[in-house]
Amino acid sequence: MTRTVLVTGGTGTLGNVVTRRFVEDGHRVAVTRRAPEEIEGLSDLTDRLTLVEADVTDEASVQAAVDNVAGRLGPIEVLAHLVGGWKGGEPVQEHSLETWDRMLGLNLRSAFLCSRAVLPAMQQGGWGRIVLVSARTARSGRSGQAGYAVAKAGVAVLAETIAEENRGSDITANVVAPSVIDTPANRNSMPGAVPSTWVPPADLAASVTFLASEEAGQLRGAWLPVFGSA
Ligand SMILES: NC(=O)c1ccc[n+]([C@@H]2O[C@H](COP(=O)([O-])OP(=O)(O)OC[C@H]3O[C@@H](n4cnc5c(N)ncnc54)[C@H](OP(=O)(O)O)[C@@H]3O)[C@@H](O)[C@H]2O)c1
Repeated sequence: MTRTVLVTGGTGTLGNVVTRRFVEDGHRVAVTRRAPEEIEGLSDLTDRLTLVEADVTDEASVQAAVDNVAGRLGPIEVLAHLVGGWKGGEPVQEHSLETWDRMLGLNLRSAFLCSRAVLPAMQQGGWGRIVLVSARTARSGRSGQAGYAVAKAGVAVLAETIAEENRGSDITANVVAPSVIDTPANRNSMPGAVPSTWVPPADLAASVTFLASEEAGQLRGAWLPVFGSA
């Protein structure tokens, strides 16, 4: 069935791949980016994509983007909220408030704002899929990453809460929890590492689109580990 899908973070590595998959699967797809330019890597799909500008940490911006998409494509039925970011390297006693606030804002506040904005239309339509991105760090290997780990653990709890609140309907919320994704940024920052042990973006995208599918309707509040072979 064709659904109306909102992907946040379409300019990102995962965002690019997930967006392409949803389009190729025949859905009506809107994708957020922060700058008004075309999205590099998706320029061949411009005719089949609805681009919206949004800062997903900003309440008004998120609501405006959701209203914009609903007006152009119809009510959002699938949210794939992929925006996130990492900063670490500071143990708790040295963790700056700036890092803490940035990690909570970019990863957790954004997931809350986007989920909250799409839920009323999903509840009205009786069907919805929310897919958020946690991380392996939410559960292990947290040293030096307090803000990020807490935020990604919070994202998982948010999905569990939404799943619980919407029990009895066909609205689900789940998270994928990758370890290291094989991105150009990670290859640049970890030149000695072995990228073949990391998670290929296409494999992670397959997990995201599965959680967004009709068939995943019985999965509620799942934390899906996608760890690669590392
Ligand atoms: N990379 C990893 O190894 C890894 C591991 C575990 C989990 N994750 C999670 O997986 C997800 C995707 O990761 P990725 O590496 O593909 O990310 P990425 O390439 O860094 O892309 C991040 C995306 O978020 C967008 N963004 C950042 N701040 C925003 C804001 N305030 N409003 C709207 N958009 C904003 C960026 O847009 P701009 O282009 O405008 O900056 C970009 O599209 C994230 O949630 C990340 O935390 C990643």
